Amino acid sequence: MIVLGIETSCDETALSIVESANGQHISVRADRTLSQAKLHEQYGGVFPNLAKREHQKNLPLMLPSLLAEAGLAEENPHLDAIAVTVGPGLEPCLWTGIKFAEELAKKWGVPVVPVNHMEGHIFSALLRRKECNMNHVPRIKRTCSVPLLHAPCYMLHAPCFPALALLISGGHTELVLIQGRFTYEIIGRTRDDAVGEAFDKVARLLGLPYPGGPEISHLAEEVRQAEQGLALYSRLSLVKLPRPMLHSNDFDFSFSGIKTAVLYLIKKLPTPLTVEIKAAIAKEFEDAVTEVLIAKTGKAIEQYGAQALLIGGGVIANTHLRRAFEQLATEANMPLFIPEGNLTTDNALMIAVAGFLRLTMKDGSTKPHEENLVAKGNWGEYFPMRK
Ligand code: KG4
Ligand code: ZN
Repeated sequence: MIVLGIETSCDETALSIVESANGQHISVRADRTLSQAKLHEQYGGVFPNLAKREHQKNLPLMLPSLLAEAGLAEENPHLDAIAVTVGPGLEPCLWTGIKFAEELAKKWGVPVVPVNHMEGHIFSALLRRKECNMNHVPRIKRTCSVPLLHAPCYMLHAPCFPALALLISGGHTELVLIQGRFTYEIIGRTRDDAVGEAFDKVARLLGLPYPGGPEISHLAEEVRQAEQGLALYSRLSLVKLPRPMLHSNDFDFSFSGIKTAVLYLIKKLPTPLTVEIKAAIAKEFEDAVTEVLIAKTGKAIEQYGAQALLIGGGVIANTHLRRAFEQLATEANMPLFIPEGNLTTDNALMIAVAGFLRLTMKDGSTKPHEENLVAKGNWGEYFPMRK
């Protein structure tokens, strides 16, 4: 089957064409992600209507070259399905992707499969790039489709169950218990800001550009690596931020308190803040966030007897967090699945893969929708879901 994935839930416009016979070996015929981050920088966050207009502009511009690269004809590429993110995300942006998918589906006479963005992030953690051995990649012969010999190949790993997924992005912070393929239960979530949102807001308080996560990470790493920085950091040991809900009796999170603590701290410091002070705050902030995420995840692993740990979402690009989770998984003696390369951020490959798997579910519970999909900005559930 060949599936086109469409992702427009936030500020990335992404399209991907994947081919697979079994959902395990996935050949990526073409894949594009266009980030709007630079455009939103002046607003210090994503401005929904601007993002929507950009998606409307980008999608039709990106499609022809995507199809050409995939070796498919624009008039009728003979796809098997179109997978589109219908939620959660910014509704004006989601609608743009949905309308685009529905128009193409009508034109090409193919079904549309609705995909939950968070399920996409779960699958992105399980994808591993592999050397393409054409003998192992069953390729469906099509008169209209040119076989691509150099298409990147991925393997979709199957974790042991129960598995635990931590999803950390600009809009979400969730601990998800996965009892079996497609059986999810959210056991904890943030009660206020998402962890990526906290990174972005703290970066803004420190006068750093959007998106703030990579900026904070960069400064904090400098402090960790430079001896001089460490000495300075110990002199700045007054920089101590709270670890909200660290000892709470559940798996929920709260990050807005750390951000407020940074605000009060800055008010007490002489301005403008020096780079050293910014770096010390960045490091302490990163330490606080990491401590809470690791403690809650570790507790959930123990309580639910998780056999594998999956992490998805843009924040897991963070070097310090990655190291901390590698250590946690080693100590718990369990496999850790973290997305490779640019699969941490929003992308359409994960949406195409989720759509493919939903469409080929043996119980047939996901019916392709021919038309009239609805954007679900707060889609907190992945179907089928027990909670
Ligand atoms: O998953 P994603 O690309 O988009 C959403 O669905 O939100 O995540 C974006 C978030 C932003 O808040 C960004 O600051 C954060 O991921 N992020 C990072 C890093 N790289 C991106 N946070 C911490 N450290 C990073 N290196
Ligand atoms: Zn995302």
